[in-house]
Amino acid sequence: MTVLYKANMVRGAEWATLFAERAPDLPFRLWPDIGDPAEVRYLVAWVPPDDIAATFPNLELVFSVGAGVDQFDITKLPPHVPLVRMLEPGITERMVEYACMSVLALHRDLVQFIAQQREQVWRELPVTQTGKRRVGVMGLGLLGQAVLGRLKSFGFPLAGWNRSPRSIEGVTCYAGADALPDFLGHTDILVCLLPLTPETRGLLNANLFARLPRGARLLNVGRGGHLIEADLIAALDSGVLSAAVLDVAEPEPLPAGHPFWGHPRILLTPHIASTTAPETAVDFVLDTIARRHRGEALPGRVDRTRGY
Ligand code: GLV
Repeated sequence: MTVLYKANMVRGAEWATLFAERAPDLPFRLWPDIGDPAEVRYLVAWVPPDDIAATFPNLELVFSVGAGVDQFDITKLPPHVPLVRMLEPGITERMVEYACMSVLALHRDLVQFIAQQREQVWRELPVTQTGKRRVGVMGLGLLGQAVLGRLKSFGFPLAGWNRSPRSIEGVTCYAGADALPDFLGHTDILVCLLPLTPETRGLLNANLFARLPRGARLLNVGRGGHLIEADLIAALDSGVLSAAVLDVAEPEPLPAGHPFWGHPRILLTPHIASTTAPETAVDFVLDTIARRHRGEALPGRVDRTRGY
């Protein structure tokens, strides 16, 4: 009955300490020290090992160490082994911080001011009231809802778009592909918090940008695969969009010489918007294992047909 962890090693050491404290009877191992593979019942991974099913014949549960699961090929997991996303409060809180920071940065022209500083330009830009800057969040899961909840305090008019209908107090909610143009037409700062699936890959493209009010701003905290990079550059260079904050790219790390590095209207961070907090994630994993033993439903269980 072993838990095997295969992700960031610095955080892995914290996980090991917390497991030793909170579940001293449950052996915990850090990849590549896997011990007897037949003993591994629970796998916690960012990039999963190849051939999971053949290597670990007694696996009962697989956890993504992050909120996203697009790095897993679900078809390679035996049907009886659930894949669970990390629905832990630490990851949500960090995403809320990063998203609020970035929406405020886009609202207050920080990207433009950074470019001006590089050019030694001292120039004011007109300030828009928050009440006139409409923020729209794509993806209304746990993270999207938490981000909207905190953005409320700044007074932005808020909207959300989701694949299936949602109802959130104080947020105008749109659902499904048919409602997308209407949502975009009312969005000055667009936040992408969608899961990456075959349906959402490449969704942030020229066609979508053209439906936003001219000069809109983009925050991508989803995945690099959501964005058609050349379309973003063209939209920024032509004024269709006025600035973008990107925390994700494809591939990561972004290759040297890529146009995003030096673009004056792009603020880029190295996929750090949110990371799993070991302190709270360990409790989530232990709780999920206990639920599995009791035969209960598992929060965060990935629906194989939806892909998230
Ligand atoms: C990070 O991107 C995650 O999926 O948690």
